[in-house]
Amino acid sequence: MSRPGPLTDYEKYIRTEELLALQKPAAELTCHDELQFQIVHQVAELWMKLTEHEVLFAGERMRAGDAPRALRGLGRVKAIQTLLMDQLMLLDTMAPKDYMTIRNALGRGSGQESPGFKRMLQIPDEVWPSFEALLAARKVTLRQIYEQPDAQAELFNVAEALLDFDQNLQGWRQRHLMLVYRQIGAGTPSLKGKASELLAEGLKHRFFPKLWEVRDELFGEWTKTHPYGAEKGYHG
Ligand code: HEM
Repeated sequence: MSRPGPLTDYEKYIRTEELLALQKPAAELTCHDELQFQIVHQVAELWMKLTEHEVLFAGERMRAGDAPRALRGLGRVKAIQTLLMDQLMLLDTMAPKDYMTIRNALGRGSGQESPGFKRMLQIPDEVWPSFEALLAARKVTLRQIYEQPDAQAELFNVAEALLDFDQNLQGWRQRHLMLVYRQIGAGTPSLKGKASELLAEGLKHRFFPKLWEVRDELFGEWTKTHPYGAEKGYHG
């Protein structure tokens, strides 16, 4: 579609011409809902690009000993992850029949090939050594900050912000799985086996295992000293 006159500063800066040319033209859509499907995925890739930018920056700040700035960056990551999760509700408004039509156009394409999500799976391992370096610089162990969260408030808050990132990655996976059930059912085979089983497998993963293990350690010791714990365990 041609537009009148030269590009405005807004159009030049946001690069609206290129951006709005990245979706299928109306005449090529396989069904009405395909535009939404394409836009939700494109926006998700942009949010994941920003997430990577922020998490890696938080890692750099941790290495520099700047916990408050790392924390501010991770706060932004949490906000982006909320948007990533919430935007999945748009696809709840799609009829399964429309998804089938779109699926034909997707060919063998799969969300597993998402470059943004592949990075989400990698960056926890990349940022964890930076957090360990911060602990080492402050001469504190992970166990100590969980034993005395108020005495080590800054480090405790960074640890919990990393745990939020982990929890929200898995929260997104759970929400996406509900979307999959809603659109294609629980039993439909995907390109690589039963989709629901494949996706449920990913939910078992812990991105920052040490942040989960430290909870086991704390409660393990508490259980040993608790009057009922030694016999029955906490929930016995
Ligand atoms: C109608 C909506 C959707 C359906 C029915 C759907 C379906 C599926 C299915 C069946 C899989 C399993 C692998 C495969 O067979 O390809 C999958 C994986 C995946 N999809 Fe979707 N999807 C939808 C929307 C989205 C959206 C909006 C995103 C956003 C980026 C997305 C990203 C992914 C990712 C990252 C995976 C891999 C997940 C993992 O490894 O845990 N999907 N999807």
